[in-house]
Amino acid sequence: MLKRSCGALRATDAGQNVELCGWVHRRRDHGGLIFIDLRDRDGLTQIVVDPEQSVFTDAEHLRHEDVLRVRGLVRKRPAGTENLRLATGEIEVGIAELDILNRSEVPPFQVNTDDDVDENLRLEYRYLDLRRPRMQANIAMRHRIVKALRDFFDERDFLEIETPMLIKSTPEGARDYLVPSRLHHGAFYALPQSPQLLKQILMISGFGRYMQIARCFRDEDQRSDRQPEFTQLDVELSFCTQDDVLETMESAMRHTWKKALGIELAPFPRLEHAEAMERYGIDKPDLRFGLELRDVTQAFAASEFSLFRTLAQSGTGSVIALRYPGGAALSRRDFDALTETAKQLGAKGLVWIALAADGHKSSIAKFLTDDVVARLREATEAETGDAILLVGDARDAARIVAGKLRNEIGDRCHLRNPREFAFCWVTDFPLCEVDEETGQPVPAHHPFTAPLPDQWDLIDSNPLAMRAQHYDMVLNGYELGSGSIRIHKPEFQRRIFTMLGMDQQTIDDRFGFFVRALDYGAPPHGGMALGIDRMVMLACGENNIREVIAFPKNQIARDVMMDAPTPVPARMLRDLSLQVTGEAAP
Ligand code: AMO
Repeated sequence: MLKRSCGALRATDAGQNVELCGWVHRRRDHGGLIFIDLRDRDGLTQIVVDPEQSVFTDAEHLRHEDVLRVRGLVRKRPAGTENLRLATGEIEVGIAELDILNRSEVPPFQVNTDDDVDENLRLEYRYLDLRRPRMQANIAMRHRIVKALRDFFDERDFLEIETPMLIKSTPEGARDYLVPSRLHHGAFYALPQSPQLLKQILMISGFGRYMQIARCFRDEDQRSDRQPEFTQLDVELSFCTQDDVLETMESAMRHTWKKALGIELAPFPRLEHAEAMERYGIDKPDLRFGLELRDVTQAFAASEFSLFRTLAQSGTGSVIALRYPGGAALSRRDFDALTETAKQLGAKGLVWIALAADGHKSSIAKFLTDDVVARLREATEAETGDAILLVGDARDAARIVAGKLRNEIGDRCHLRNPREFAFCWVTDFPLCEVDEETGQPVPAHHPFTAPLPDQWDLIDSNPLAMRAQHYDMVLNGYELGSGSIRIHKPEFQRRIFTMLGMDQQTIDDRFGFFVRALDYGAPPHGGMALGIDRMVMLACGENNIREVIAFPKNQIARDVMMDAPTPVPARMLRDLSLQVTGEAAP
């Protein structure tokens, strides 16, 4: 008796006696026979029970998700009844023995369909949700991707080194999850937001090439591409240039896409940050489609349309144009709705020009001369049948809104095919950005990022103009990963901390251990981290990372299956000398 999986049997196995174990995916009573689709991780096999058999009564009472062991003879399905959509669709197993290993309650949702089910219900019964073929495929893809990455880095002589989960808070821009210490009353560990400083210290320790599939924790607002607990492919190299890091990570992706998806990736285009903002209005451009932004401010310098003329004359404003393929077919009402969408994306308003075959129509028709329309057509490469959208605002604001609108148009025109993978690099990010609350410079990446070598002169006079050896890997409009060449000289690291407004005491308290390590012969080094959850999400064509994590938190950071977080008994709090004041968490 051969033990086989439910996805394994083919026509060539006909005549064999086999044993299969799995769950009742579906049961149909048909023409006096009972058909059971038996499911395991590998697939489905059709089991047939006929009324003469002693197991028939048991089979009649089977319910979805009961657990069975079945023995029987593999045979070809009668001609005309094959199911070509199923790998096992040419055969069936005529049952000889049936063991009901366990019964299932009626599931709160169908496991055997891909129907939309409320996500919290799915997460509460995650064990059932994970039985669905789509989720099994996603989790298997995750395994294949992580395996391919590990193999690639092993091949290139990287060591996987585990770094601790209980550490001192190292800032990556989000809030830390804190763990109170019982032995050190009133003191807290932080869960790592990333292994950033530890991997840099591993370079100082001489390991040279490090990687880790690292669990990270960040207490930040949830989005479809964020989880409080997530996984990074974390990498660091010594004695490397930016190009070395980019080549390594790009090759890792090429290897992984080939191994896990069977797809050959083309070389990744590289864009400087300023260029990405100029052409796409965003630092993570979706390169699956063109529709680049065009600055048409000057076309309105002498326009009757005073809003745009004022922007053109101010010297600080911009009018950005974007082509909307096929947009001329939209009605005025459609354009009104699009204007509302643009406002939700941050626009003050939206000007549209529909290039219909019988002439153009526009929300500002009376101000538009043929000459201006011709200039806009040329700039955007719009054709008859298209529309041109115009956004006017302060220079950066106009680009950013137009960039969001570009993605919206990409969606509307079905230009964002999830089975297409458009990777790119964005390099030369600004070193700092302005904190909206304090007006102070804050690191655009993290404070360990090195500026471009020729930028140090600006540190006192104009730190916001400094550009960094900071690069992002972008896939289909998502930031897949970030990295940088690090500061390896302690005096330079101190200068950056000071520029960021830290006094000596703060530097010593927060980063003393790290700056001290830099004092003992730190090699030049750099690296990056890629978000594994985002990578798998995109590889699986999903649009939410919860679909590729076995046990994710929900939208309000709760584990609804285990019911966490929950209050703990007073005794546990006393051990930690903690007291809860105010309202308990919902
Ligand atoms: P960064 O903070 O940019 O860089 O993170 C790197 C990548 O990790 C993923 N990521 C997340 N994924 C899911 N949920 C989250 N909450 C989340 N936050 C981040 C993203 C992101 O691009 N230490 C640096 C890397 C380095 O410099 O080497 C770091 O963590 O895909």
